[in-house]
Amino acid sequence: MFEDHRPPEPDKILRVMKAFAEDPRPEKIDLGVGVYRTADGRTPVFAAVKAAEAAIHETQESKGYVALAGDPAFHAAMRDLTLGHSVAPDRIAALATPGGTGAVRQAFDLVRMVRPEAVFHTPAPTWPNHESILGTLGIRWKPYRYYDAALGGLDRDGMQADLAQVRRGDVVLLHGCCHNPTGADLSAEDWDDIAQLLEGTGALPMVDLAYQGFGAGIETDVDGLRGLAARLPELLLAISASKNFGLYRDRVGLLLAVSGKAAEASALQGTLAWLNRQNYAFPPDHGARVVTEILRDPALRTLWAEELDGMRDRIAGMRGALVEALRRETNSERFDFLGNMRGLFSLVGASEAEVEALRRDHGLYMIADGRINLAGLTPETVAPAARALARVLV
Ligand code: LMR
Repeated sequence: MFEDHRPPEPDKILRVMKAFAEDPRPEKIDLGVGVYRTADGRTPVFAAVKAAEAAIHETQESKGYVALAGDPAFHAAMRDLTLGHSVAPDRIAALATPGGTGAVRQAFDLVRMVRPEAVFHTPAPTWPNHESILGTLGIRWKPYRYYDAALGGLDRDGMQADLAQVRRGDVVLLHGCCHNPTGADLSAEDWDDIAQLLEGTGALPMVDLAYQGFGAGIETDVDGLRGLAARLPELLLAISASKNFGLYRDRVGLLLAVSGKAAEASALQGTLAWLNRQNYAFPPDHGARVVTEILRDPALRTLWAEELDGMRDRIAGMRGALVEALRRETNSERFDFLGNMRGLFSLVGASEAEVEALRRDHGLYMIADGRINLAGLTPETVAPAARALARVLV
């Protein structure tokens, strides 16, 4: 059966991870995969996570199954963190998943099951795995204009024109905050405009929220999402705890499906649990339990928020330092637009050939579309990174 089998190409993020790991040059700089790093290049375990794990270790009496949809206490804690009071809890079905990608996949599967003809409208550009998973599932998708590379910001008019064309029953994919890969976020006004457009067309919003707390603040980052949820009858929300709890390898995710009425939510709850059963039966519990413990315990929650705030400050500091260094290196304001972006990512405006030259000649690694991860920078590497960018791009 497998004699002639060839694996699918890894996506552009995975390719960079591999190439960086194989590069023997000690001065190489990794601005590739989207993980947080400290100023000395580590991705540490949060102190709040360590404390929660210690408490769980002390008190947990069983590793027996919890429930197909995961622990209701986890659902409630994450629901409050993300949606706050924007929607009555009895209108929300919830499904614990392995990571945010698991939630994205289950959301796609749910739509395919309920409305196979739905088309997904994805921002151009978006996280490559969105379109890859849609393609794998045989779901149709169509990019809408989102980012204007020449402008270095949101293509507001293009986005509105494209979203106005979306049909009832289609799905519009949005990034909750810290847009990946551009870092160009929607303003409060943009969220309002989108809510109005979706109300008009009857399309369903699906929000991917993987970086809450990395943009402007834990609460501020979900203002737009909450406004949308308060206004529209239905919404899908895929949440990742990989980054903002540092639980990457523990795979902690949650899908929330908001429906118009409590009775619909209870039917959806059954379908979601069934979808977990089809894909992997019970979801992982350990990381979800850690998150629940942190969010429920006031002292742990404060500690976690402080740690996350510190990470956000470090990323913003590196962003500012890079903009400054690029000003010095290029004697221009060409890269100032990077300072307007939020979160881990931005597109520096490099072609694939330039990305390759940066890797080959300067040991500077980024994704092939020119996406950099600002958390990969340190006070020592900002200057060489800016120098390399100036040499190759200017
Ligand atoms: C990224 O965009 O680099 C992260 O979300 C990691 C991943 O799985 O792609």
